[in-house]
Amino acid sequence: MDRFAAPFNLLSDRIERGMSNLLTVLGIETSCDETAAAVVRRRADGRGEILSNVVRSQLDLHAAYGGVVPEIAARAHVDLLDTAIKQATVEAGIDLARIDGVAAAAGPGLIGGLIVGVTTAKAIALGLGKPFIAVNHLEAHALSAGLTEGLDFPYLLLLVSGGHTQLLIVKGVGAYERLGTTLDDALGEAFDKAAKLLGLGYPGGPEVERCAAQGRASIPLPRPMLGREEPHFSLAGLKTALRHEAIKRAPLEPQTIADLCASFQEAVADVVSDRTARAMDIYEERLGADAQRALVVAGGVAANQWLRHALNAVAVSRGFRLVVPPPALCTDNAAMIAWAGAERLARGQVDDLGAPARARWPLDADAPPALGAGVKA
Ligand code: KG4
Ligand code: ZN
Repeated sequence: MDRFAAPFNLLSDRIERGMSNLLTVLGIETSCDETAAAVVRRRADGRGEILSNVVRSQLDLHAAYGGVVPEIAARAHVDLLDTAIKQATVEAGIDLARIDGVAAAAGPGLIGGLIVGVTTAKAIALGLGKPFIAVNHLEAHALSAGLTEGLDFPYLLLLVSGGHTQLLIVKGVGAYERLGTTLDDALGEAFDKAAKLLGLGYPGGPEVERCAAQGRASIPLPRPMLGREEPHFSLAGLKTALRHEAIKRAPLEPQTIADLCASFQEAVADVVSDRTARAMDIYEERLGADAQRALVVAGGVAANQWLRHALNAVAVSRGFRLVVPPPALCTDNAAMIAWAGAERLARGQVDDLGAPARARWPLDADAPPALGAGVKA
């Protein structure tokens, strides 16, 4: 990889000497079922600007299966990525030759899709003689509040998506402390499975929320992990309890489905509120009472209004500011990848072209394994 070292070193020299006050980065996201490309600019004062943010959803391709099919996703990324990148540069009004770096989500995620994005990014970086940055997808979610809200460190992050459910202290770029994770299903996955077993569409979260609005939370469901010391989650039992309640009431009338959705959503909100409150205690213990009190919620499930309402109540009662980036930046997108890449590039942290795509890539490698976990990251 020596051949590629020169431009990278030149760039980090330039950065260290303070000559690079504006960085423009192309970001690529292909870790799941969104094919996305974006161009983001980072100013010398650390503030960001999105020049373009193109997301091609593959929802139609996977809907019939009730979940993402990895092989279909990888092939679709191959078909869609080139034009997404083209569109992102056109919308940004920028020639690729004028960018300062190329960032791609290199993990965690579905390996086939990751390889498509990482290989494409490396090829562009090599062709242009620009640095390549292998971005951790979770880090990109973790840092996105800096891009959209200009939020400074530290803050508490609740990341809730189809693949992840984590509570993390974000202390700075590359400095994360994982407080809690899920022992089984991710929160979005639990919504998707709940929707499937109730005969609703995919993705399940929005369907469950829509149905819940017509129902009453009248059906008793458990609140797994409530009150536990460590702020971990466990959602598989809740889903199983929902199945039992649904079987008892079969055949399901629309009103019963709505009541089951409302009951499920309320149970989820109770659990998430309790786990987040516990994480707030630990955040204060670790960082002291003077640390900024901000709770950032990211990931697709952050779109759920009921959950936001519950989290807002927790935040207010603890004196935390609730920060939820706009929906387009909560769900998977490439602007957050470009931004994480720019944050790393600004610190001279670039990768060589041998950097691998990684199906698993924990943000906090020092976090002890969560007991009993079928943990995904
Ligand atoms: O972050 P995201 O777009 O993709 C990843 O999984 O990385 O999150 C998608 C997940 C899906 O499981 C979807 O059902 C869930 O977010 N979701 C919701 C809502 N909107 C999306 N869950 C609950 N309520 C919603 N309104
Ligand atoms: Zn994600």
